[in-house]
Amino acid sequence: MLRPCLFALFLIYSQFLASCGGRNSGEPTAAGALSPAAQLGKLIFQDTSLSASNAMSCASCHDPQIGHAWPDANEAVASGGPGLNVKGLRTPPALNYLKFNGGFKFDTDGTPMGGFFWDGRANTLAEQAKGPFLGPAEMANNSPAEVIEKLRRAPYADQFQKVFGANIFDDPNTAFERVAYALERYQVEDPVFAPFNSKFDAVMQGKEVFTPQELRGFVLFNRADKGNCAACHASTKPDNAPGALFTDFTYDSLGVPRNLEIPQNGVANFYDKGLCGPERLDLSQRTDLCGAFKVPSLRNVEKRKRFFHNGKFTTLKEVVDFYVTRDTNPTDWYKDIAGLFDFLFNDLPAGERQNVNVKEGPYNRTGQTPALDEDERLDLIAFLKTLNDR
Ligand code: HEC
Ligand code: HEC
Repeated sequence: MLRPCLFALFLIYSQFLASCGGRNSGEPTAAGALSPAAQLGKLIFQDTSLSASNAMSCASCHDPQIGHAWPDANEAVASGGPGLNVKGLRTPPALNYLKFNGGFKFDTDGTPMGGFFWDGRANTLAEQAKGPFLGPAEMANNSPAEVIEKLRRAPYADQFQKVFGANIFDDPNTAFERVAYALERYQVEDPVFAPFNSKFDAVMQGKEVFTPQELRGFVLFNRADKGNCAACHASTKPDNAPGALFTDFTYDSLGVPRNLEIPQNGVANFYDKGLCGPERLDLSQRTDLCGAFKVPSLRNVEKRKRFFHNGKFTTLKEVVDFYVTRDTNPTDWYKDIAGLFDFLFNDLPAGERQNVNVKEGPYNRTGQTPALDEDERLDLIAFLKTLNDR
């Protein structure tokens, strides 16, 4: 959020250098062996027996085939609980490349950044991992002890004792901490969570070149007066990663339209406001942050089935159309249950709608023409497809 982008020219230049073989950074790290804890994490990640339904694991909502994103195009949110019929509030986010994210904080200029979940309420992957085991719309166990009771019967229970101690099951709370730790190690260590092997990476390493259309899309992605996407979905390599992450892990209020597929949104005065609640409680007084959600990485974005925190959109084309025509053609986007124009930014209560970002491109165009024409939008999408891990 509010990160000016002046990189477009530099990036074209680096593609030029890359194609001359002059640049060779960002090699993906070799697939090393997983630590014993990470190996356990991998087993736990796929184990459906640790849920009240006996049918749901982490992988049910975070599909490894698509960058660990939500796999069901027909549903905006997952259904969990003992009978797999309790709908959640938000779309399961993709998990790839999250290991480069840090704990939640306010930057020196007050910009919120970091943290896990759409609202950053967990500070580490381990803290995050405890949530789904107990969430009523997820794996729905009643307590950590119940999770550990199930784990004791898992085929890898011996392995768990070997790694964490013969007596580990005597203290369910400590054992539950180790489960969360194992899941964190798995997500941090296994290269499937951060392969950096997309076409984009190959181009940056000088091994391939963009097609003319992809290159046009890349320029539009970066140009502040066009897509301006890189202002939040950073397209340059940060210090702590071998390649660009396509997020700066900050937060922004985009005014994504209300999604009536989500049961809680059937209640007229209910609003999911991200940083200021209802899932996150510590910032409820910061009404200036209401409506802000974390910027997701755009790596593998083309494989996603649902987009944004509420899964409002099902295609990348809709997302791009939304970005560039939200302010030029608002009646296309904000509709009531009958399909008629509702009002601007209809997923926030009056008084908080002014938090929606109308200052930055591409959505600072009220009364003007869209920042990208139809062909340019297709160019942008062609570029986004180069971010797919292979
Ligand atoms: C029923 C579907 C479901 C299951 C099962 C599930 N998750 Fe999630 N996951 C979600 C949703 C929904 C969110 C976002 C919730 C929010 O922002 O409030 C999420 C968020 C996350 C995040 C944070 C992503 C980010 O961008 O910060 C991580 C990491 C994660 N899940 C890992 C796991 C792990 C590990 C497991 C297994 C222990 C798991 N999930 C099980 C639905 C699920
Ligand atoms: C000012 C910051 C900002 C800019 C500029 C921006 N985005 Fe985003 N983007 C976000 C935030 C924040 C979200 C999550 C919003 C939500 O879910 O409510 C998001 C979500 C997305 C998603 C959904 C991903 C997912 O996993 O659900 C896509 C796709 C996307 N942006 C593409 C783009 C493209 C393409 C552009 C340029 C045309 C762009 N963004 C410009 C901040 C930004």
